[in-house]
Amino acid sequence: MQYIRLLLLMTVPIIACNKTSDPKPERAASKQQATQADKAAKKEINVYTHRHYEVDKEIFKDFETKTGIHINVVNAKADELLARLEREGDKSPADVFITSDVARLYRAQQKGLLQSIDSDMLKKNVPSHLRDENSQWFGLTKRARVIAYANSRVKPSEIKTYQDLANPKWKGKIAVRSSSNIYNQSLLASMIAKDDHEFVTRWAQNILSNMARSPKGNDRDQVKAVAAGVADIAIINTYYLGKLLNSKDENEKSAGEAVGLIFPEYQAVGLKEPGKAAGTHINISGAGVLKTAPHVKEAQEFLEYLTSIEVQNKFSAANYEYPVNPKAELSPLLKSWGDFKEDTLPLSNLGKYNAEAVKIFDQVGWK
Ligand code: FE2
Repeated sequence: MQYIRLLLLMTVPIIACNKTSDPKPERAASKQQATQADKAAKKEINVYTHRHYEVDKEIFKDFETKTGIHINVVNAKADELLARLEREGDKSPADVFITSDVARLYRAQQKGLLQSIDSDMLKKNVPSHLRDENSQWFGLTKRARVIAYANSRVKPSEIKTYQDLANPKWKGKIAVRSSSNIYNQSLLASMIAKDDHEFVTRWAQNILSNMARSPKGNDRDQVKAVAAGVADIAIINTYYLGKLLNSKDENEKSAGEAVGLIFPEYQAVGLKEPGKAAGTHINISGAGVLKTAPHVKEAQEFLEYLTSIEVQNKFSAANYEYPVNPKAELSPLLKSWGDFKEDTLPLSNLGKYNAEAVKIFDQVGWK
């Protein structure tokens, strides 16, 4: 298979996702002396990505077949990739940086690692709140952070907003992962963008006192806790439920079947935007082209391809993520979850308020 062959021929090593070991030096000594111009001569792109899904491999392979542009992949956690990019500096072979949350894209931008890509097609494919205003990063897929509730114990009409979760009636009923997780940090950051620091702190405090257990595991584990009766409601990203429902493991499948989804709104009560109702919190996986990219033209073509209707349909069907391209089709499962009002807060706010969110979590003791 071409993808496998490419992996073997690659000039940059693949790092298995989640491994923390430092990758080997990128290039042989002679190659290290190659100029950016030499590197640009070859029709290829070097993609540093935190996404670790099977569907991405298929999509990358299709791009290679269609364009003849080879893709070399470095797969690792976003923070490891960021550290590597900083270490490599001007000599970095990387063209595209892909992450599974917007706060890391914002971080890359703040470090001056990204460049603006002026593409009418990208502007058309990606709605403005899902891309950087200076076109330095673009959303590829959307993830809604929602509430999974026990079908047998909770009426969906009992929860309409994120604030409803803070009600003492849910004491000992909520399962949610650790605050070190970027999805929770981004959810809190979206509240800070709309509301008082005081109010958001109180919300985090109340969620903590409503927890069924100390935070542990990933979003899938929170649904399993609800299915097992440990909790009644869980805060999760939508695609994790898709993964459970389509799991080969019967236990995972039945855990998924034990819950329903609520797409909560956010009602600002503080001073910033009192009374303003916002839709369900959205995060993205997204991509940016690096400032030192040797293959800018090919990198742009790659991003345009990733946001095309054809590829967006695949993200939705195979990975249960919401497409960013409004013209793409929702998969039958996503359609079954129904329409919902989406928060259109510009996503750069999630990066902007990340540090404050982390501070609040620490302050209230949400591990
Ligand atoms: Fe995830």
